[in-house]
Amino acid sequence: MSRIKSPSPTGDPPPRRTSALELVGITKRFGDVTAVDRISLRVEPGEFFSLLGPSGCGKSTTLRMIAGFEEPTSGRLLLNGQEGSRLPPFKRSTNLVFQSYALFPHMTVRDNVAYGPRRSRLSRNEVTARVEEALRTVKMWEFADRLPRALSGGQRQRVALARGLVNRPAVLLLDEPLGALDLKLRREMQIELKEIQRQVGISFVYVTHDQEEALTLSDRIAVMNRGRIEQIAPPEEIFNRPATRFCADFIGEANLVPVEVNSRSDAPRVNVTLPDGTRVMVGTTSGITSDTRRATLVLRPSRISLAGSAPDPADTTTGGFRGRVRRVIFQGSVVRVDLDCDGGPHLSAAAAGFDIPDLEPGREVWATWRIEQSHLVGETISPSDTTGTTA
Ligand SMILES: Nc1ncnc2c1ncn2[C@@H]1O[C@H](COP(=O)(O)OP(=O)(O)OP(=O)(O)O)[C@@H](O)[C@H]1O
Ligand SMILES: [Mg+2]
Repeated sequence: MSRIKSPSPTGDPPPRRTSALELVGITKRFGDVTAVDRISLRVEPGEFFSLLGPSGCGKSTTLRMIAGFEEPTSGRLLLNGQEGSRLPPFKRSTNLVFQSYALFPHMTVRDNVAYGPRRSRLSRNEVTARVEEALRTVKMWEFADRLPRALSGGQRQRVALARGLVNRPAVLLLDEPLGALDLKLRREMQIELKEIQRQVGISFVYVTHDQEEALTLSDRIAVMNRGRIEQIAPPEEIFNRPATRFCADFIGEANLVPVEVNSRSDAPRVNVTLPDGTRVMVGTTSGITSDTRRATLVLRPSRISLAGSAPDPADTTTGGFRGRVRRVIFQGSVVRVDLDCDGGPHLSAAAAGFDIPDLEPGREVWATWRIEQSHLVGETISPSDTTGTTA
């Protein structure tokens, strides 16, 4: 999506585009449980937007409020710039696709897809044309006369998608639509789903607890934790510059190292002290203020190299830590090396291979990283959190 704004001849700011969907401080309580806690977000036309977070964090509740199946306790919901909180589901410019397909077992593929449009005021010809278009989009036209039970899981999921697309919503809402598929099929369907979204050009709001899926598919991701949004950003930014410790931990693997903050004189870089007393610079930061004394260094295993000796002290572009190899794990396409480092922390490095001879338990090595690939978040971690990486 293009975000480049051209200056207007009058010097006025360019008019803001109307978002396809906007949530402003939306909360949902069920009795004592606050399922969704004051979340705000905007989804632009044509955007692939994901809600990512662990089980129970409020993703489905958020989606159901957007679809109109659940009423917010407070907050505003705008659809295409119009107040939408009070509209019943069928009057909204949204359509919800569930994980469990929800196909009618006794109806053919064609009739399943035609079910929604037939109940609207469309002409018979229009319905027929739309059904064909939707089934062709998901590559299921040749299966139009089959019953759902004669389809594979992936094919059924395509039909469910066609049922959402056939109504031509401005925003298609998808709640873990690939959850029932095995990993290989899931990966194939991810790529197809993205293709279909590009082709039809409507906004998708996609719910998943699978971080890899969210990174693969999304233009932007909202990371949710306990009913709140911790970060909204494009995948690369979420991965490289997580806003919080939770985001660092939940998305991808992360080594989390407790550090002391020395100075911000070189801002945006920050100087910190590692647990072994070494001082290093950190490339980027989130949530660090002039009062922050303790923070957490985030190092991705894939960004750590191993060396036989300490980095040159004059080299200000590289950080390093001395440690001992605890174990070496062959994981197929990568080798993972776990280290016990001076001062306490445990680090993992992962690469296709390491060019160090005798990489065996007990061997002394240096874990090194490029400063600009290290990130600092302004939250502390407890010692128990440093006992290795988290998946
Ligand atoms: N109708 C309900 N009544 C009471 N509590 C509910 C209701 N629906 C959801 N909750 C609670 O709200 C919280 C958020 O639920 P939600 O279904 O939105 O989570 P989720 O992020 O979709 O999780 P999952 O990944 O497991 O599907 C949970 O604690 C859940 O138990
Ligand atoms: Mg859910």
